[in-house]
Amino acid sequence: MPQITVENEKTFDAPEGKKLVLALEDAGIDILHRCGGIARCTTCRVEIVSGDVPPISAEEIEALEDPDLIEKYRLSCQLRVASDLTVRVWGRASAQGIEPGGRPED
Ligand code: FES
Repeated sequence: MPQITVENEKTFDAPEGKKLVLALEDAGIDILHRCGGIARCTTCRVEIVSGDVPPISAEEIEALEDPDLIEKYRLSCQLRVASDLTVRVWGRASAQGIEPGGRPED
């Protein structure tokens, strides 16, 4: 089973094929996902520190818009776990004092 590491925080196993945003949330990371996982809000974005991920999708590029964001981030609601990853999580519900958003569908 792939291992996901949230840099400087925790490492956990995640089933292959599970959406990264759900793997993070189920591991206790209060990641934001304000649009419910439909590639609109970008609050679920993560920086891939290491590990292999598929090429960025057209939906992600459209949502992230800014070339600097496109270069640096991926939308965790659009990524499925395929191998070991180390990530930095951009948005936390607790840090921003807001609800994380509706749970994305599997
Ligand atoms: S873009 Fe909104 S939850 Fe991923």
